[in-house]
This record gives sequence, C-alpha cells and structure tokens, in this order.
Amino acid sequence: MVSTLCYIILPVVFIAGLLRKCREYSWGRCKSKSNLEGRIFIVTGSNSGVGKETVKELAKRKATVILACRSLQAAKNTVQEIRCYAPGAELIPMELDLASLTSVKHFAAEVLKNFSEIHVLINNAGVYVPLQDKDKDVTREGFEIHFGVNHLGHFLLTNLLLDRLKQCAPSRVVIVTSKLLESGVIDFNNLNGEKGLPVKGRMNPGYCNSKLANAYFASELARRTENSGVCVYMVCPGFAYTGLFRHVKRSWFHYILFSPVALLFLRTPNQGAQTVLHCATDPALSNESGNLYFDCKVYTSKKKLDAEVGHKLWAVSSKLTGIEESSI
Ligand SMILES: NC(=O)c1ccc[n+]([C@@H]2O[C@H](COP(=O)([O-])OP(=O)(O)OC[C@H]3O[C@@H](n4cnc5c(N)ncnc54)[C@H](OP(=O)(O)O)[C@@H]3O)[C@@H](O)[C@H]2O)c1
Ligand SMILES: *[C@@H]1O[C@H](CO)[C@@H](O)[C@H](O)[C@H]1NC(C)=O
Ligand SMILES: *[C@@H]1O[C@H](CO)[C@@H](O)[C@H](O)[C@H]1NC(C)=O
Repeated sequence: MVSTLCYIILPVVFIAGLLRKCREYSWGRCKSKSNLEGRIFIVTGSNSGVGKETVKELAKRKATVILACRSLQAAKNTVQEIRCYAPGAELIPMELDLASLTSVKHFAAEVLKNFSEIHVLINNAGVYVPLQDKDKDVTREGFEIHFGVNHLGHFLLTNLLLDRLKQCAPSRVVIVTSKLLESGVIDFNNLNGEKGLPVKGRMNPGYCNSKLANAYFASELARRTENSGVCVYMVCPGFAYTGLFRHVKRSWFHYILFSPVALLFLRTPNQGAQTVLHCATDPALSNESGNLYFDCKVYTSKKKLDAEVGHKLWAVSSKLTGIEESSI
C-alpha cells in the first residue's frame, strides 16, 4: 500500500504538477504593472470569464473601467465582487446587449455623453451556441447569433466610439478573437447562414466564422486608423475554463477522458486574460497595430487575411448596421 503510494502515485502527481507548471510558464503573463489611474477602459462581456478577470487586473492597477454587460444586474454584482479585491476601484456597471443594435446605440450614446475620454476599448464579449440549438437563436434584428453578437454588435460599437478614441490618442482597441478563426470562412453569399452552415468535423461554423470576421474587422480597422494614434490588437486568449461552453452538454466520462487535455491546455480565466491585458496596457506595444497576439507574443496565423475581403466586409457590415461608411 505504502510502496504503491511512494513508487507510483507520488511520482505521477509530481510529474503532472511539473508539466502543468511548464505549460503555465509558456503561456506568459502581462508584465506591465504600471499605474493606470485616470485611464478609462471599456470591457464588453465583463461579468464572466476572461472579461471579469481583465477588469479585476485593471482595477488593481487603478484604472477606471466601464463594465458593459448584457445584464445590468450581472454588471453590478461583478462590480461588488471586484471591489473586495480592489477597494475604491472606479468601476461603472452599464447595460450593453450586443444582440440588439438599438442597445448598442443607447450604450454608445450614454458613454459619449458621460465620459469625455475613452482610452481603451476591449471587445471581449462572445457567444457560443451549440450546433443543435443554432436555429433557435438570432439577434433582435434577425442576424445569425454568432455573426450578430460577436461581429456586428462590436463593429457598430467600435465605430460609434471611434472619434472619441481618436480624440484621446494614444488609445487602443483590443479585439478578442480565437485561433479557431483558422477554420472560419467569409462567404458573402451566406454571411448570415441563410443557406445553412456546412459543418466540418466538430467545429461550430457559426462561431469560427464570427471569429474570422473579428480578425478581418481588426485588420481593416488597423489600416483605417493608421497614424491616428489608435492602435488595434487582436487576441486569442487560449483555451480557458470560462462560461463560454455553458450550453454544451457533456457526459461524466467526457470529463474523465478530457482531464489530461485540461491539465496541459486548459487555462484559468485569469491566465486567459493575460494576453488581453498585455495588449491593453503594455507600453512596449505602443507603436504596433493590426497584429494577432497569443501567449503574450505576436502570433502568425496560418490564415492569411486578404485585404480585399476585409474591405468588403467593412462595407457590408456598415450597411447591415446602418452607419454611414466614411472614407477614413
Ligand atoms: N474560453 C475560451 O476557451 C476562449 C478561447 C478563445 C477565444 N475566446 C473568446 O474570449 C472571449 C470571452 O469569452 P469567455 O471565454 O470569457 O466566455 P464567457 O465566460 O462566456 O464570457 C462571455 C461574455 O460575453 C457576454 N455576452 C454574451 N452575449 C452577449 C450579448 N448579447 N451582449 C453582451 N454581452 C454578451 C456574456 O454575458 P452573459 O454572462 O450575460 O451571457 C459573458 O459576459 C469571447 O470573445 C470568446 O470568443 C474564449
Ligand atoms: C450619466 O449621467 C447621468 C446624468 O448625470 C446620470 O444620471 C447617469 O447615471 C450616468 N450614467 C452612468 C453610467 O454613469
Ligand atoms: C516606437 O515609438 C517610440 C515613441 O513612442 C519611438 O521612439 C520609436 O522609435 C518607435 N519604434 C519603432 C520601431 O517604430
């Protein structure tokens, strides 16, 4: 009994712990601890997961943060919770439902009215609806849920706040996407999944396509804001244990089979937030724009973004969200 413990279980636990530590080291951490007093941040979807941890870390660095959440009550609860870690933090709970363009306009109007400065916009909110439920979910205006929330809502929000960001330069826009963008496609004849979305393997095409749309939006935005003092960063937070897959039903044996994968790949929400923080705050990044970051470093995606597609997606998104397309 005792010898089994000494010769098998303990070494296994020790090696697993060591492997985990090596993995965690490779994920990197945001090194910047600079004081952010007086800097105003907006974080969408900040009542949960990566967004909530991002706000916690920003609050510790004394930033002013607007928590833009689908439910005002959830935003208020998160503010309460974070004040325990960072007493006296400047946290403002607000309602923003990205599945409604009307809500996006209301939110932007209130922010522009109440805050004369915005320094960093973090487009973090995201939704993942399992394939079998996908037909049930559309946004208020009838867009496919992933395309509507993850892309169009943020597209409109960013455009409505862009002039203020420019006035407050140097400022930043951080767009949270995912490496799953590599499995996405932008099909202009089926942007909204009207013709059904072909499923390859186990990937959810609506989600992957929306993350690719995030990347096209980010690179086109970087191009349009060149030399304006606004820098744009794309981030993949890595595979993190958050609420994102809350609608996906899994059996108990799945969890057992999954545990070695989790040991090596699954980040805590705080570990997931590190690259977002790095891009939102590190002064060393202040003259870069349009890159994708992963593990707190620039990541070169296998997917090459075609500037033509980015340009066209911008035009189509302007039309769908009803904004004037300016020729910046
Ligand atoms: N976790 C991962 O492994 C992973 C990997 C790659 C990329 N990402 C990306 O990381 C970002 C953050 O996700 P997470 O992992 O932290 O998941 P999460 O815990 O589910 O957080 C997502 C947030 O988005 C909000 N949201 C959803 N629909 C919204 C809407 N219509 N309007 C406003 N807010 C809405 C959610 O609000 P409610 O709580 O009200 O639903 C929640 O606060 C997402 O963009 C995701 O695509 C995550
Ligand atoms: C914006 O300002 C108005 C009027 O001063 C105030 O009633 C409202 O609560 C403010 N909103 C936020 C989110 O601070
Ligand atoms: C980055 O910006 C700083 C000033 O903010 C400038 O001195 C430096 O030359 C720039 N570096 C590059 C590589 O552009």
